[in-house]
Amino acid sequence: MIDTHCHLLLEEYSTEERLNEVILNMKNNIMITSSTNIKNMVETLNIVQRYSQVYGVIGIHPEDVDDGTEKNLKILESHLHDPKIVGVGEIGLDYHYTKENRVKQIKLFKKQLQLAKKYHLPCVIHSRDALEDTYNILKEEADGSFPIILHCYGYSLDMAKKFMELDVYFGIGGVVTFKNGKKLVSVVKEIPLNHLLLETDSPYLSPEPYRGQKNEPCNVIKIAEKIAEIKEIDVETVLKTTTETAIRQFDLNIEF
Ligand code: NI
Repeated sequence: MIDTHCHLLLEEYSTEERLNEVILNMKNNIMITSSTNIKNMVETLNIVQRYSQVYGVIGIHPEDVDDGTEKNLKILESHLHDPKIVGVGEIGLDYHYTKENRVKQIKLFKKQLQLAKKYHLPCVIHSRDALEDTYNILKEEADGSFPIILHCYGYSLDMAKKFMELDVYFGIGGVVTFKNGKKLVSVVKEIPLNHLLLETDSPYLSPEPYRGQKNEPCNVIKIAEKIAEIKEIDVETVLKTTTETAIRQFDLNIEF
């Protein structure tokens, strides 16, 4: 199984020992850790070197939009050639706390999408309270030359169907196990299994029954079990299909 989206960062897990333990708890399973700014991009580059089962995506999150200088984007671009870096992310739009920097966010989002396009790398997108802009930009940019993954998908089923027309893939995480996760359950039920990816977004969004605790990648099995339950199929099928999809979309150099 593959946790396609987590944040394996020291600031999240407090100590080197704990972070090491969290990674080893996944045994031989793959994790794709995501940066959110320039500082933790360096940490991400470091950790993917140290652990064979950890791959990385690098990008600047909308909440860190001020990191998106030309100079920083050049640095980011230079690291996209690293063999363990498999995508651009997480990037996107977030109007939850403020919409004041909307134009700035859009500019940075588009610039990073261009990088994904230039190198045919998947982009991992964070979109919160920004449905219309996200959809319009992706509709403009999607040309089939780079995979598009909406991480922690939180919009409606109707919109998911519209995103499907753009060949988008959906990262499904802990929210699907929550009591108030009904909207996401309907998405999982209707969207074909081969367009779903498993993710934990560790250390955030722990699935039930661990809600409220610090999340870690090995909890990704709980997401797989929930998808199996919703789709009324066995968990092995969920693990096999989502793993194949992740290997293909992130072009991972592993045997399966
Ligand atoms: Ni994340």
